[in-house]
This record gives sequence, structure tokens and C-alpha cells, in this order.
Amino acid sequence: MDLSNITKVFSESVIREMTRIANEHPGCINLAQGFPDFSAPESIKNAAIEAIRADINQYAITWGSVSLRNAIAEKITEYNKLKFVDPAKNITVTCGSTEAMLSSMKAIINPGDEVIIFEPFYENYGPDCLLSGATPRYIMLNPPDWKFEFDELEQLFNERTKAIIINTPNNPTGKVFNQKELKFIADLCLTYDCIAITDEIYEHILFDDHKHISIASLSDMENNSITINSISKTYSLTGWRVGWAVASEKITNELKKVHDFLTVGAPAPLQDAAAFALSLGDDYYKWLGDFYQHARDKLFNALKQTSLNPIKPDGAYYIITNCEDYMDQYCLQDSTDLAIHLVKNIGIATVPGSSFYADPKSGQYQTRFCFCKKEETLQSATQCLNKIRHK
Ligand SMILES: Cc1ncc(COP(=O)(O)O)c(C=O)c1O
Repeated sequence: MDLSNITKVFSESVIREMTRIANEHPGCINLAQGFPDFSAPESIKNAAIEAIRADINQYAITWGSVSLRNAIAEKITEYNKLKFVDPAKNITVTCGSTEAMLSSMKAIINPGDEVIIFEPFYENYGPDCLLSGATPRYIMLNPPDWKFEFDELEQLFNERTKAIIINTPNNPTGKVFNQKELKFIADLCLTYDCIAITDEIYEHILFDDHKHISIASLSDMENNSITINSISKTYSLTGWRVGWAVASEKITNELKKVHDFLTVGAPAPLQDAAAFALSLGDDYYKWLGDFYQHARDKLFNALKQTSLNPIKPDGAYYIITNCEDYMDQYCLQDSTDLAIHLVKNIGIATVPGSSFYADPKSGQYQTRFCFCKKEETLQSATQCLNKIRHK
């Protein structure tokens, strides 16, 4: 029996596979998949419990409960400086930003359309393109500062370009796109009438005074942008599966239809609790930023003592390392070999760099460590890394 030709082309997530491998090795520290190993804020958990007790147990309005859409509109107007957002017209609440991205793409793509992706990329974007029928075109972010060539990007745009995916702060590089870069991308989107789909789930995890800018806040981008976010990273609630997409009314009308038939809706009581989370004050975001700045410094300094050559991230909660010397020393062939070696010999699970590139060779010497972990976990990781300290 012939099954789907589309799903044959991609494999299961390497990131989530590394979590399974970590679980098979007792004592292995999982710095692979990006989920916190510490508690979510007590007040948000209580809001969810209260919502269930208050019998918010049936389907919410398919595109999101009124309370959550109001909270998103308020937050995105203030923090992200999007001036056009009407909770009734521009917001679709989804099952995480994962669903927001796929529903967005399904809502805008026609056969033959191209979508530009910066690489290294978050591994979902490739399958998202294939599942929505788009042809991905790639532009490289070059280490160590992860800049891209403006000319190269301009040359990728053509009449078939439907969208460009931006992820800022970026997974896996930690790049925070600056005003000049975003303005350049926005101008290209407006010239070619294509859509910037922007995944901003790490928007509050910024280091060394970097600032987050939403491309949708730049002039005239209202009709050419989809801004995606979720509660997963900002509130350490990756398992709750509540996210959203904010776009023009025209795009939102199509997106809502895809979302309705794909999932019907995000969990109703957790939408209520998400609305509460979005109402937390500046103190919370200050705490979050400081917490992750400390975690980044701790893991970065530990990696710096080894031959793994870490590149310091400006945002998000990952560190890419360039392990060519180390791999030579142990005759490791590629980044998968390296990741398995690190699990078995060092006791740390990471994500092979190859999974972030269209051509696996581009990431063959890289591996990604995440630091969304409590102090004790990072301390244990530091002890493991001591096994490969420079002599
Ligand atoms: C860039 C990026 N987008 C989306 C996701 C998934 O987000 P969500 O839990 O909101 O579906 C992740 C998770 O690691 C991510 O790194």
C-alpha cells in the first residue's frame, strides 16, 4: 500500500529523538530538547486549577477565548508595538506556536510557492513547508556572529516567493535580528508582496541588553506579516500547548479555517490561565531575563574550558558549539556520531548540528546545548564537561 509521498521525505524530529536516547541512558543530563526542568510559576498553575474548578471544560471559541485574545491584543500592542491588533479580527489561538506556524502556512501557500528560511533553522520549518506544499529556499546565517549577506537574500526573492520565516531570538543560534536587518527584510516583503512569518517565542529571553523587535511593527507591515508566539518558553509551560498567530483580518480569516479543521481549539481552561500569565508584571520578565542570563553564562563558561568552542548567544536558550577539533581527536565522523559519543562518554545529551541545516554537512561539526535548566542541572553538566577540560 502506498502511503503519503510527503511524509516519506522527512524523518521524525531529531531533537525529540535525542530526548528518547537520553532517557535510555540512566544519569544522562538532557541538554537536548528545549524544555525547562524547573516549575512553572505557582500563580499560573493556580489559575489553571481554578479554571477547571470553574468548569471551563468544554470547547472554547475555536479561534480562542475572549479573555485570552484580549490579553494577547493588549500585550502585543504594548510590548511588540503592533498598532493594528483587534482581538476580534486579528488573533487565532492555536495549539502552541507549532500549530500556528503550520496553520499559517497552509492558509497562505499555493502550489509552486517558495518560502525562504534562514539556516541553521528550527527543525519544524522544513516539514512545515513540505506539509503545506511550499518549496523551501535557504539563506545562511554565518557563524560566529550569524550575519547573513543582504545581496544573497535579495537574490532569493522572486515572483514565486510567498513568505520568509524569521525566528528572533533564534533557535539554535541565539541571534537577535536587529533593526537594520528586519527593515531590509520588510522592504523585500513589501516589494514582492510576500509575508514575513515571524516566530517570536523567545522574545523575553535576551542577553547583554539586546532588544526584541517585531517585524510586524515596522511601517506598512500590517498586511504582510504573521506574528507567532506561545506560552511555552516565556512561562515554562511547553506541555500546555497554547499559542497564537496575529495577522491582518484577511490572513486571519483563512488561518482560522485551517485551525478549526486541524485542531478545533487549544485547551479551554489553559487558555484562561494563559490570559492570566500574560497579565504578569515587569518583575516577572526581569526575573526571567536574569535567570537565563545567569544560566547562559554558567554553561558558556563551562563549555569555554573545553575544546568544544561555544559561540555566545544573544538570546533564546541554546548554545551552538563547533566541535571540529574534538571530533578529530576521537575520530568522530559527523554530528550524530558526536551527539551519541557525548551521551555515552560525557553523560550529556545534545542535538546534532546536522538537524538544523538542509544539507546535513553544513552542521557536521556542530552540536546544540540548551540551558533552560535549574542551577543544579547546569552544575552537574559542568562536572560532566570537566571530563573534557583543556589540559
Ligand atoms: C523556534 C521555535 N519555535 C517553536 C517551538 C515550539 O513551540 P510551541 O511549544 O509553542 O509549539 C520551539 C520549541 O523548541 C522553537 O524553538
